[in-house]
Amino acid sequence: MIKSSCVKHVLRSQDFSPEYLDKLFSHARKLMARMKSSYSRESLVLPLRDRVVTLLFYQPSTRTRFSFEQAARLLGAHTFVTENAGEFSSAIKGETLEHTIRNFGEMHADAIVLRHPENDAAERAAAIVDQYYPYCHIINGGNGTGQHPTQSFIDLFTIEEHLGRLNNFTIAMCGDLAHSRTTHSLAYLLSKYANVKMIFYAPGDKMEMKKEILDHLDEHGIQYMKTSFLSYALRRADAVYVTRAQKEAHGKDIEGETYFKITPKEMELLKPHAVLTHPLPIAAEISREVDSDPRSHYFKAVGYGLCIRMALLEDLIIN
Ligand code: NCD
Repeated sequence: MIKSSCVKHVLRSQDFSPEYLDKLFSHARKLMARMKSSYSRESLVLPLRDRVVTLLFYQPSTRTRFSFEQAARLLGAHTFVTENAGEFSSAIKGETLEHTIRNFGEMHADAIVLRHPENDAAERAAAIVDQYYPYCHIINGGNGTGQHPTQSFIDLFTIEEHLGRLNNFTIAMCGDLAHSRTTHSLAYLLSKYANVKMIFYAPGDKMEMKKEILDHLDEHGIQYMKTSFLSYALRRADAVYVTRAQKEAHGKDIEGETYFKITPKEMELLKPHAVLTHPLPIAAEISREVDSDPRSHYFKAVGYGLCIRMALLEDLIIN
């Protein structure tokens, strides 16, 4: 367990310090070791027995939802899950997010993991629990085109695990950077580590990294550059972070536009020690043959995510 934590909610990645993440990751590593030796609930201490974790998802999800659900259950918590909450909850009858949160507060949720299409949803939910249910924690599981802080914890952990460090390296972020919330959370977090250089490759003007994030990097003296050549980014990076075209954010805007694809040919450009990762799902931006390249770590990252989310839930609810 992480000692002396004072984290209340998980809304934005920039609220987390490298020291906090270091402790979170070392707890996650201990959990990973336990999982490997005996994948059984009996071997875990069940620190969240009789606690309640609600998963309120208004947008599609595979990994985030299942890994939080599995994390909560492995720690002994009960889970309330509503996927497609826009249709399967009272939202379809006109209930506001604030009222839905009050319902789960009244049902003693200790934590609510929220995924929502609106960028201010997690903050609104946090304001409600702060007013009425101060023991309850909000975890942003992805808010519109805003952030996805717990995914960036996983991305950071994956880079550290396979590159061996979180400072003195160059990362290439390649994809629909304007709308990929995971790249926003990751850029904010990496700006806290020493000598991390960022190269941004977006395949189209509408996909360029958001100005507010570039402003933040400028304010913090972080070296970054934009390139319109994928090969330029791939050759120079120690870590390559790829995201899909967020079609749901563009509507018909990007129909017929060409996106890039990382194939074994592009992998030849990467450094031998480079770490390739992706938050998943992969649409068509990485070819299947690349999955077995030893530098591809996106599936291992899913396993890391389970233990990171276990460590996080335990810390938030127990400390
Ligand atoms: C991401 C998301 O929902 O932002 N998925 C995830 O949680 N790992 C990435 C995406 O949908 O492209």
